[in-house]
Amino acid sequence: MKPHIISTISELRSFVSRQRQSGIRVGLVPTMGALHAGHLSLVQMSGEQCGTTIVSIFVNPVQFGHGEDFARYPRTLENDLRLLASFPSLAVFLPDVGEMYPDGFDLSVRVGSVAIPFEGEVRPNHFDGVATVVLKLFLASQADVAFFGQKDYQQLCVIRKMVADLNVPIEIVMGPTIRERDGLAMSSRNVYLSEEQRRKAVMIPQSLFEAEQMISTKNIRSATQIKQRIQEIIRPANSTADDISIDYIAVADPISLHELADIESLAVILLAARLGQTRLIDNILIGDILAGDAATPAERM
Ligand code: PAJ
Repeated sequence: MKPHIISTISELRSFVSRQRQSGIRVGLVPTMGALHAGHLSLVQMSGEQCGTTIVSIFVNPVQFGHGEDFARYPRTLENDLRLLASFPSLAVFLPDVGEMYPDGFDLSVRVGSVAIPFEGEVRPNHFDGVATVVLKLFLASQADVAFFGQKDYQQLCVIRKMVADLNVPIEIVMGPTIRERDGLAMSSRNVYLSEEQRRKAVMIPQSLFEAEQMISTKNIRSATQIKQRIQEIIRPANSTADDISIDYIAVADPISLHELADIESLAVILLAARLGQTRLIDNILIGDILAGDAATPAERM
C-alpha cells in the first residue's frame, strides 16, 4: 500500500491540525528523497516518539549553488514511496517547486556565525537555502518535533540556531549517523562514486575513527596533531592528483562551531573531501554529547 501523499501546504496544514486536535504528537522528517537507511532511521525514530510522522520529499533548488548537482541529484520517488509504505501512521509531503516557491517568492533566511565556516565557506548561500526551506516546512507542517541526522552536523547546528533565535515552536531531535558496513556514512550522493572512488571513500570514516581512538586511548588533545593524522590517512604522501582531495578538516566546539586548538571535553571533528566531482562530508562527536554516534568504532565497522 502506498503512503498517504499530500502535495499542497493547505492540505498539509489541515491534515496536521486534525491530528493535533486529537492530541496526536506530530513528527516531521525533512528529506530530499533518494531515501536510504539513514533517512529511514529518522522515520523510525519519529514513529517511536510520535503518533503521526510527516516525511517531506523535496529537492530544494535554492540550497544548490551554480554548478552543483541539482539537475542530476538522484530522484527515486517510486522506490522512496515503497520504502515508506512499511511505516504506519505516516504521510508524505511532496510539494512541487511552485508550491514551495510561488512566483514572486522573495525571502531568504540567513543564520549567522554557525553557517559561515566549513560548508558555508565552500558552498556560499547553501545554508540560506536550507534554513529557508526548513523554516517553511516547519511553519507549513506545524509539527511538534523534527528529526535531523548527525551526518549533516553543521546543518543541524544552523537549524537549531534558527529555531532558537526565531522562537519557532518545534523540538529538534538528532539521530545518529547510519553507516555502511565498512563505515562510510550513507548518503544519497554515494551513488555517484565509481568502484575505485568507493574503495577510497572508506578512508574518510577510517580517519575519523582513528582520531577518536587517538583521543580516547592516547589522550591526544591537540587539534593540529589530530588534523595532521586525519590528513595522512586520507591523503598519504604518495597520493596522486585524482585521489581524494580534502576541502576541510576541523576540530570545533559542537555548539558554536568555533575551531578549537585543544580538545578539553566536547568537540566535533568535521571533514569534507572530494572524489572526482563528488563531495562527501562526515563528522564525529567527541565526548558524550547529544546522544550522538554512540557505538564504538569497532561496533560501527
Ligand atoms: P537529505 O540529504 O535528504 O537528508 C535528510 C535528512 O537525513 C537530514 O537530516 C540528514 O542529516 C539525514 N541523513 C542523511 N544521511 C544520513 C545518515 N547516513 N545517517 C543519518 N541521517 C542521515 O539534508 C537534507 O536532505 C536537506 O538539506 C533538507 C534538510 C531536507 C533541506 O532541504
